Amino acid sequence: MQKINFQKLKKEVQEKIQKAGSLQELDSIFNQYFGPEGKIKTLTQNLKKLPLAKRKNLGKKINEFKEFFDQALNLKMKELKEKIEKNVKREKIDVTIPGKKIVVGHLHPLTLIIQRIQEIFQGMGFAIVEGPEIENEWYNFDALNIPDNHPARDLWDTFYLKKIIRGQKLLLRTHTSPVQVRFMEKHQPPFRIIAPGKVFRHEATDKFHEINFHQVEGLMVDKDVTVADFKGIIENFFEIFFKQKIKIRLRPSYFPFTEPSFEIDIPCLSCKGKGCEICNQEGWIEIMGAGMVHPQVFKNSGLSPNEWQGFAFGMGIERLAMLKYRIDDIRLFFSGDLRFLNQF
Ligand code: FA5
Repeated sequence: MQKINFQKLKKEVQEKIQKAGSLQELDSIFNQYFGPEGKIKTLTQNLKKLPLAKRKNLGKKINEFKEFFDQALNLKMKELKEKIEKNVKREKIDVTIPGKKIVVGHLHPLTLIIQRIQEIFQGMGFAIVEGPEIENEWYNFDALNIPDNHPARDLWDTFYLKKIIRGQKLLLRTHTSPVQVRFMEKHQPPFRIIAPGKVFRHEATDKFHEINFHQVEGLMVDKDVTVADFKGIIENFFEIFFKQKIKIRLRPSYFPFTEPSFEIDIPCLSCKGKGCEICNQEGWIEIMGAGMVHPQVFKNSGLSPNEWQGFAFGMGIERLAMLKYRIDDIRLFFSGDLRFLNQF
């Protein structure tokens, strides 16, 4: 049988036990010596093969070693347990501490305004429709009675795309009016619709003008729709939207796709018409263009102008939001400034 130097063995286990950093590690050290295949276990099993005197001597040494091992092990176990308890105490969760507040996002003020506009018009029997933001020249201009080289095209500074499809230049729509034609091509009157959406104009920005803004188009067609119907519906809309009666001003104007045409101003709600920062000292704010659908637009959309008549309007959504929330600069909407956005 192999001779064992117990002094060396004691030193070896002492070091191993000292270095152990967990109870699992101590377990594994124990197994290395006293487990089924451990050094001491095999030694004990072979004891009976030895003559009595040697057996006694070796048995004594084994017992001494075991005592030594137990002591070192118990000491280390105590130390590790104390450490664990300390950690548990330190990591204890204090359920009374207030939680971290989760910052929840919210809808953009313009989205809120669009939703409100839709609700009000739906309440008056209008359906909501959409049209593409990338248009071609036919729908954005020609079908609306604005032929090429006509000076009225200059009213809308246009972003053109490089692409031409079926001989048609593509562009970012300059207004929501093309949706009128797209809708009339596919539907038989009577109908009343609104079409909210983004529009784009290549123009200088200021506190009232953005290059990318929103409009809501309105169109009502029937046998005998008149300007009085338009006035009634739009006044009703403003009264619900602003929660007060609003006196509107119809100014004669020119749009190639309506006849007669007018622009609608409403008194500045901030200064009540006296003139202030928000209305540029005018007392009034231009909010939309409107008019009776031009016979040529009916024809271009496949409807007979002898049979049908209707009104159309295009309202600036940012302008409406500015009036409602008393905002004096349109550029704030797309500034991404949270100090502004968090107010809604
Ligand atoms: C038009 O765009 C016509 N399509 C409106 C129309 C529709 C007339 C149907 C007749 C029948 P206008 O360019 O005036 O019209 O624009 C309509 C409204 O959009 C303006 O009254 C204004 O409220 C808003 N708007 C116009 N340009 C800007 C801009 N650069 N930034 C923000 N709002 C604008």
